Order: sequence, then structure tokens, then C-alpha cells
Amino acid sequence: MYSANPNRYNDMTYRRCGQSGVLLPALSLGFWHNFGNVTPEAQSRAIVRAAFDAGITHFDLANNYGPEPGAAESRLGKFLHDDFAPYRDELFISTKAAYDMWEGPYGSWASRKHLMASLDQSLKRLQLDYVDLFYCHRYDPNTPLEETLQTLVDIVRSGKALYVGLSRWPLEASQKGYEYLRNHDVPGLIYQGRFNLFDQSPKNEGILDAATENGVGFISFSPLAQGLLTNRYLDGIPSDSRMAHDPRFLHADMLTPQVLDRIRRLNHLAAQRGESLSAMALSWILHHPGITSVLIGASSPEQLHQNLAAMKSVHFSEEECMIINDILK
Ligand SMILES: NC(=O)c1ccc[n+]([C@@H]2O[C@H](COP(=O)([O-])OP(=O)(O)OC[C@H]3O[C@@H](n4cnc5c(N)ncnc54)[C@H](OP(=O)(O)O)[C@@H]3O)[C@@H](O)[C@H]2O)c1
Repeated sequence: MYSANPNRYNDMTYRRCGQSGVLLPALSLGFWHNFGNVTPEAQSRAIVRAAFDAGITHFDLANNYGPEPGAAESRLGKFLHDDFAPYRDELFISTKAAYDMWEGPYGSWASRKHLMASLDQSLKRLQLDYVDLFYCHRYDPNTPLEETLQTLVDIVRSGKALYVGLSRWPLEASQKGYEYLRNHDVPGLIYQGRFNLFDQSPKNEGILDAATENGVGFISFSPLAQGLLTNRYLDGIPSDSRMAHDPRFLHADMLTPQVLDRIRRLNHLAAQRGESLSAMALSWILHHPGITSVLIGASSPEQLHQNLAAMKSVHFSEEECMIINDILK
């Protein structure tokens, strides 16, 4: 029988999400990997418990996280039932739809038909009456923007989600989206995009600024570049790493000599700052104005604990920023 750490709120930092009433932990937990049927249930359960015990109140899912698609939601549903039933109101749970989920013309993209049906399926798997946050997981160029956005509005009105967000939407569509949602009294809560030391496109493309200007928070996915921005690959490819066992998303070709050289130099800078590379990579994201949270993955409670150190030094001197720019140029 699980009983949560009574000191779980002592060390976590909570940040306001845009101009909303919601506070999210500086570090949130993602369920993309390590919660499917190929991971022992006890391993997944230990990660979730470690997260909540450390004050991580935000869990991020999607309809298709697995494998098999849906398995991560089912697994969390079981944990919510077994371990977290007394803590539902201390948790902020998100899910998403718009990537391929089931066969046929309604199993993907961002029509009203897909989004509504997918959310109903997600709620069943999660064993919940509502999620705190529902995302449109990607922009759909073939569905009228108004159809997608009105569906998000209606989802909030139906009570099946408290807030809505956008993920991976291009700049112009996201700006139109914020305006539509605001005009329909359902302001967008948050934008979810990939932002890390190796991929700064939300900053360079104006997506982060647009979210901030619209009072919308920003949460960074793959903040460790799926593990590249850690000490994981400094001495080869460990057999238990994502690159070894799931090359669909993190292929060995990505570990070029140039990338490895950058990782080594960043690791050196982190050591000079007295922290691990993973902690520095996360705190570097968190030091940007407009960032609400970093959405980490972890394959063990130990990794999660190491990454919590990111909250200690969310400050970079001008000289450190110059060194980082030089390494990445
Ligand atoms: N909106 C979207 O389209 C989208 C896309 C991708 C992800 N996401 C969200 O973002 C979440 C996080 O993505 P991600 O898993 O790619 O995040 P990440 O934090 O960049 O990578 C996590 C992986 O890095 C390794 N790692 C983590 N901490 C470590 C440490 N201290 N030392 C060594 N290795 C460490 C582990 O890999 P090993 O398995 O090698 O141990 C871990 O699974 C997802 O779960 C999902 O919720 C959203």
C-alpha cells in the first residue's frame, strides 16, 4: 500500500502557467517511454511514485503512448486506482490526440470526430472522469482551424478537460488558436514544444514569445534530447539505453562525432558549475523567461532524482551563455 512522502512539497518549485491560475512543477513527468507493455510494471510504478514523492504533480500522456498505443494510459489508470486515488486533486494529468491511434479515417488528425472519440477512450483507460489538460497533439492542415478549436472549447464546456493546450502547432496557427480560444472564454493554457540545448526552434521561430505574449505557458518536451544531453552516451551506447532498444526515435546515426564533441564540452562546463550535464541542460531551459516546466522522461527513479538537481541553479552568467553558444555554433 503506497503512502506518499509527507515532505513532497518541501523542495519542488512551482511556476505559474502563463497568466492562468495553474501552478506547475518546474519538472514534470512524461509517459512517452517506460510505461508501455515492454517495461516491467514495477519499474514504471517506482518512477511514478518517486516523481510524486518529489513534488512532481504533473503527468503528461497521449492517447498513443505505449507500446501498444494506449498502454501508458492504461498503466497510469491502474496506478491512479491502486496508489493515487486519495491524491487525485493533487495531480495535474494531461493527455493528447491527433496522431495515429486507430484504423480508418477517424483514427488520427484533428477533426471533431477524432478528438472527441479519442478523449473518451483516454478517460476510460485512465479510469478518470476528466483530465486536467487536453492537447491537440499536432496541427491538422486539412481540417478547418475553427472545427478543431471549437472542439477544444466544447471539450472544456463538457467537463471532460479543465484546460486545453496546443502541441507542435506552427507559429501562425498557434496565434490564431490562442485568439479563438480566448474569444470563446476558454483561454489556451499551455504550448508544448521541443526545446533543448540542441533544438532551440521555439525560441528562434517566435513560438515561445507568442505563447508568452498571449498569456500561455510553455512546457518543453524531450528537454534532454532523449538522453543525449546526459552522461548516457559519453562512452558508447549502453545496452539498456533508449538508443539501443528503441532506435525508431533515437538512432545511433544521431550520435555523430560532432554531437559527441558537443556533449563532452557541455559535460565539462556542467562539471565546472558543479552539476551533472542533465541538471545543467534542464536548468538552462528553465532560465528562459516564459518557460513553465520541463517535461522529463526517466527510465529509473535514480535518473529522476538526479534531474531534480536542475532546480538548484537556474542561473547562467553571461560568460557561461557565451561558452554554450560557442559549443553549439
Ligand atoms: N508533444 C509531443 O509531440 C512530444 C514528443 C516527445 C515527447 N513528449 C513528452 O515529453 C516527455 C519527455 O520526452 P523524452 O522522454 O524524450 O525526454 P528526455 O528527458 O529528453 O529524455 C528522457 C530519457 O533520457 C534518459 N535520461 C533521463 N535522465 C537521465 C539521467 N539523469 N542520466 C542519464 N540518462 C537520463 C533516459 O533514457 P534511457 O532510456 O536511455 O535511460 C530517459 O528515458 C515524453 O514522455 C512526453 O510526455 C511530447
